[in-house]
Amino acid sequence: MAFGPAINQLRAHEGQTVTLHGWVYNKRSSGKVRFVILRDGTGYLQCVAFVKDVPQEVFDLMDLVSLESSVTVTGVVRLDQRAPGGVELGLTGLTLHHMAEEYPIGKKEHGTGFLMENRHLWLRSSRQVAILRCRSEIEQSFRDYFYQNGFTLLDSPILTPAACEGTTTLFETDYFGEKAFLSQSGQLYLEPACMALGKVYCFGPTFRAEKSKTRRHLMEFWMLEPEVAFAGLDDVMALAEDFLVYVVSRVLDRCTEELKVIERDTAKLQNVRKPFPRVPYKDAVAQLHALGSDLRYGDDFGGDDETVLTQQYDRPVMVHRYPSAVKAFYMEPDPQDPGLALCVDVLAPEGYGEIIGGSERIHDHDLLLGRIREHGLPVSAFQWYLDIRKYGTVRHGGFGIGLERTVAWICGLPHVRETIPYPRMLHQLYP
Ligand code: 4AD
Ligand code: MG
Repeated sequence: MAFGPAINQLRAHEGQTVTLHGWVYNKRSSGKVRFVILRDGTGYLQCVAFVKDVPQEVFDLMDLVSLESSVTVTGVVRLDQRAPGGVELGLTGLTLHHMAEEYPIGKKEHGTGFLMENRHLWLRSSRQVAILRCRSEIEQSFRDYFYQNGFTLLDSPILTPAACEGTTTLFETDYFGEKAFLSQSGQLYLEPACMALGKVYCFGPTFRAEKSKTRRHLMEFWMLEPEVAFAGLDDVMALAEDFLVYVVSRVLDRCTEELKVIERDTAKLQNVRKPFPRVPYKDAVAQLHALGSDLRYGDDFGGDDETVLTQQYDRPVMVHRYPSAVKAFYMEPDPQDPGLALCVDVLAPEGYGEIIGGSERIHDHDLLLGRIREHGLPVSAFQWYLDIRKYGTVRHGGFGIGLERTVAWICGLPHVRETIPYPRMLHQLYP
């Protein structure tokens, strides 16, 4: 089967006869003219035929063909300002591959429950296509940034014997009689790897059995995590800042059409420039109090606190040095105030909240051993992780960025469920 150009490449083929494969997105007719709107995943193409110009059976098929039927069209490319995408096809041939049954997702509004049950079909709608193309571009920009900046990609395991981000959100499975958990983060595996390769990153699916139903939580999400030897908290913050500026500018550059379809206010994304404000946790708490929050000093921020706080800024804000008590066991204490951790959360503007969590890691063997015990974690499962602190240990740090929350922010979506092809949410495992 020969493939012609994609719909979004047709402008370069003006006057040529081309053949395209796709699905019928829409159709209409008036008198002696018929229109079929073809979609191929890259765009929408108006195909036009007059009764005198095509065989009668082609003309009739343009009437009969149902929405979402699969077809191949042939015709001549014409520039036309009025047509979507600025081109239309003077149709000369139409072949039907399959006549679709009546499509369950129509132009009318559907409830979220119905759309989620029909996610496999919902994916075809213009808005979902635009979001998934943005996701793909964002994902590619994640990889490109680290590749171009000298990081080595290090794939971390999915089946793990130990918890990284707390024991309450583990998915457990049987591993030939041993307990195994689906990975919550690749970080523990990256730390030894950065001692081998200097600058490393992993990017893959991570799993958290979060019994919370919020617009920010998925059970399965994609996380990219860089880890750098000899890096301190300031280096981690500078890296996160530089990386986010790159990602946003790349999407603004390459996803103009998609952002238009999603009706994203791109002026807000233009503000994502250096420097991002760096706010110590204690100042953020004071700011929240002034804004009417009753958050107690020492508590982690809830989703609402993050929303209120980020609405005060026009770009991502980096909140650093949270109390160690509310953060993970592996974070280096602040030498100025050992009750605080050398950590950072990057909160996206417009109320999106935390998209990045990172820190400097404890590099001293005995301090880390003490923390593992304090957190009630099994020392034997962490022996390999402790080992790193015995052989040329150095300061090191990194962060994790959640892909879906980043897509939600950049695309301006109210809920993470639309940011991933097949979301895994509380009580939602189908399709
Ligand atoms: O802040 P978290 O838990 O950090 C870590 O996992 C570290 N080990 C990362 C590191 O330093 N290498 O998670 C990092 C990010 C969050 O900021 C958020 O964007 C995303 O992962 N995330 C989730 N996204 C969707 N659904 C969930 N349930 C998420 N939990 C975390
Ligand atoms: Mg976090």
